[in-house]
Amino acid sequence: MEHQKVNGRKQTAEKILKDLSLLEKASLLSQIVWETTEIHHMHGELDKFLLADGPAGIRRLKEYFDKDIYNTKPSTCYPSPGTYASSWNRELLFELGQHMGREARQEEVDTVLAPAVNIKRNPLGGRNFEYYSEDPYLTGELATEFIKGIQREGIGACLKHFAANNQETRRMNICAEIDEETLHEVYLTAFEKPVREGCPRMVMAAYNQVNGEYCASNPMLFGILRKKWGYEGVVVTDCYAAHDLEKGLRHGLTLQMPGESGARIGERVLELVNAGQITEAELDAAVLRNIEMALEAKANRVQGYEYDREKHHAFARRIAEESMVLLKNDGRLLPLKKEEHILVTGELAVNPRFQGGGSSHVNPWKLEIPLEELKKLGTHVGYLQGYRIGGSRAENEMLHQEVLDAAGGYDKIVVFAGIPELIESEGYDRSSIQLPQEQNDLITMLTEQGQRVAVVLANGSVIEMPWREQVPAILESYLGGEAGGSAAAAILFGKVNPSGKLAETFPICLEDNPSHLYFPGNTSTVVYGEGRFVGYKYYDALHKPVAFPFGHGLSYTEFEYQKADTLVDKERLQVRLMLRNSGSQEGKETVQVYVQRKVHQESIYPKKLAGFKKVCLKPGEEQEICIPLDARTFMHYRTDCQEWNMGNGTYEFLVGSSMQDIRLEERVIIGEVPYQISEDSTIGDMIRVPGMYEKLEEAFKNHPVSLEFLRMTRDEDPLKAISMGSLMTLRTLKRTDGTLLDSDIEEIVRWINGQNN
Ligand code: BGC
Repeated sequence: MEHQKVNGRKQTAEKILKDLSLLEKASLLSQIVWETTEIHHMHGELDKFLLADGPAGIRRLKEYFDKDIYNTKPSTCYPSPGTYASSWNRELLFELGQHMGREARQEEVDTVLAPAVNIKRNPLGGRNFEYYSEDPYLTGELATEFIKGIQREGIGACLKHFAANNQETRRMNICAEIDEETLHEVYLTAFEKPVREGCPRMVMAAYNQVNGEYCASNPMLFGILRKKWGYEGVVVTDCYAAHDLEKGLRHGLTLQMPGESGARIGERVLELVNAGQITEAELDAAVLRNIEMALEAKANRVQGYEYDREKHHAFARRIAEESMVLLKNDGRLLPLKKEEHILVTGELAVNPRFQGGGSSHVNPWKLEIPLEELKKLGTHVGYLQGYRIGGSRAENEMLHQEVLDAAGGYDKIVVFAGIPELIESEGYDRSSIQLPQEQNDLITMLTEQGQRVAVVLANGSVIEMPWREQVPAILESYLGGEAGGSAAAAILFGKVNPSGKLAETFPICLEDNPSHLYFPGNTSTVVYGEGRFVGYKYYDALHKPVAFPFGHGLSYTEFEYQKADTLVDKERLQVRLMLRNSGSQEGKETVQVYVQRKVHQESIYPKKLAGFKKVCLKPGEEQEICIPLDARTFMHYRTDCQEWNMGNGTYEFLVGSSMQDIRLEERVIIGEVPYQISEDSTIGDMIRVPGMYEKLEEAFKNHPVSLEFLRMTRDEDPLKAISMGSLMTLRTLKRTDGTLLDSDIEEIVRWINGQNN
């Protein structure tokens, strides 16, 4: 049925295309800020097509040409993506997509510019609050569901920013220098599943350059997107990121946002076609995609639709409740009891920090105030300001003293702390990951006084917590959206059992992070020198202590992990175990599977997240948990053949409640994986595969020099064996052995790879 619709649309789009003049076609290549051109043609009208931002809610400008990006219609402000990623809940992300889809429908928006799936490479990244995680697997899983949810409602999703837009500093010109392996295994992996399975209506090309070419006209990136992943939809530039129309169109760009408009774009395209710099067929291919998108949008529009604002607000609360992370709870300080005397302090309790700045900013429909929500649940809740953001030192000292004087009269103190909105926004990176000094001082003084303190943090991404050892309870509420106030209150008073898990590592200090020495680069280039060792992969490989590890998050209940018959079933690609709620309260646990390949003679493979599942268990309930693994679990990107390949070796599986809280382990040996060779494979690597020495001996039988090099690998003299034999590649042999021609190499590669399959 869906297939027929798509075919029908394609045919209509082709008919429309035939009607259009070159100038009309050209006008469809540019978005005028938020909308595409409207065209009257023989087959009726080709409607304009509307966009709006959306990772945290629909940012629909009141007037489409308003330069004030914050003058938007009120909509539900959901928690920020950095927050909802901590839910580790695929179903929730699907539902979130559906909710945003409905809001977009009401606002007559055809495509929502979300999700944003760039990796949190460095804690200073200005848009970290808007991105999901430091891990590409987690990012890809969640973003795919978000896209499916939005598109289930007939509204398009736009996956952004493709690719490697991992910093705000000089984002419009910086060139990210990334080695191929890292690019694929980290930065592109986050996009791959969302593209292949989510099939977003649009992909947005990022501002920056990757390895020497701007993303909007980068042949390598377009090759991967269009050819390897088979993406058929529209590719739009980020705002003002169109650089080279000719190159972009040739490789797969279809829409500039905004680009030249009216007569100017017509003239440009005419020039390019007349000069043969683009063919009419290339132009048609791009325009056709845009027309199909416009037709799809038109077919899905519903006039006069209204969503239920109250229900959407309640859903925003559910997301916040599932996403806030209980980092610490010594001596079960939390949950608070209704009858306890609680002193709430911190300006953020009455003036909440609930979203980040920039294009994801929305005007909340109904903003909750944490203090008011706490007062609804507790009988004795007092408040003192404690600090004023931006206040003078003297003023803050006075506010601190008030709290210190009053604290003795309360059972527990809840400090609301966090980062002011101005510091976390699109457009610039942070300069530090510290809380404002007056907040750190207040927390430290209270612990020194021996008070029973719980800190509630509101920040978009990681911060340093110099007081974390002394404070018994810490709730990371992140940026909780408009209903974050009641969500935090419900967790603090135990009405909701926390179940969020960190989607990023909290390092002890900024300097500990792997990209510290490279970030944000010089005036033109940023080198990704840490390679694949982003976030937890680095801390784990170096056994570096962290403040709170990736995947960490406490509950008010406990879970016991037990092996089922086999933990890892490599044939069915799944992990199975028994999970029991051994505490006295219903709760949710996210079971996480990590895997690490260990191969002698190869550089360290990072430990990586390979699967996860969030489940809810009643007290005493036990359940068999089955976690599907991705085919990529046993694969690595090989630069010599530019493909993902399965690799032999021992795979260590670690299953647990966080990256560091591992409860079950098993080793799996993968021995018989066919090894694909290429012209650049070394003899040493090839002959590690059983039977490969004999195969090469056969292949070289008419090439005596090559045969001699092969035999040297078995020489007693290590210099000969390694340096002269093992390090040679087929390409270097070709230069040395006059009998070995290109055609011989091609045949050897084909023959060995064919035999292996
Ligand atoms: C941002 C995009 C956003 C666009 C439109 C750009 O500055 O990078 O994420 O979708 O503006 O607001």
